[in-house]
Amino acid sequence: MATKKERLETLRQELEQNRALPLSQTANLVFGEGSEDAQVLFIGEAPGFHEDKQGRPFVGLAGQLLNKLLAEIHWPRESVYITNIVKRRPPENRDPLPEEIEAYKPYLAHQIKILEPKLIATLGRFSINYFLPEAKISRDHGRLMKAGTWPVYPLYHPAAALRATTVLKDLRKDFQPLPEIVERLSNPEIPQATKEQKPGASQTSLF
Ligand code: URA
Repeated sequence: MATKKERLETLRQELEQNRALPLSQTANLVFGEGSEDAQVLFIGEAPGFHEDKQGRPFVGLAGQLLNKLLAEIHWPRESVYITNIVKRRPPENRDPLPEEIEAYKPYLAHQIKILEPKLIATLGRFSINYFLPEAKISRDHGRLMKAGTWPVYPLYHPAAALRATTVLKDLRKDFQPLPEIVERLSNPEIPQATKEQKPGASQTSLF
């Protein structure tokens, strides 16, 4: 049985070799990175300029903010896994098109299946709507939700937080309960009531 690392590498090669995928003629592959044993999978929208150049997700300004927010909850960046819905940069950083999201969908689905995270933390509107088309980021950020069998935790996109201090405040606040949420998901026997007495946990009681 291949290891998670090997299965991810096989998937990466499949993506690289599929030249029929949209954006494959104009941009580099940004597959994702992090610990294959990560409990939390962060999923953004699509790579930007710096990500395309370096072949790594979230390495520009938004990535620096993501690193900072992770550090604030004492999670080394290397301990989580970070990827995007669309794995190549759309020209001029435009929004990904529905057909681009659709084309990359089987690859993301496979990546999630290999990683089997405890929690999927979505970054921004496109990412949450990929899992829950009816969700509204302004209403649902910081609420633990479920998409099929996956616990999903919608967060604002760090790039949006760089543009508006109110969004940054919400994003920072939504990061705080993450360790506790993951602990609870890993230990379902922890009584809910105990958890909910703690500040910041009240929004995590959707299921
Ligand atoms: N924005 C994203 O959604 N993903 C990245 O990798 C970088 C910026």
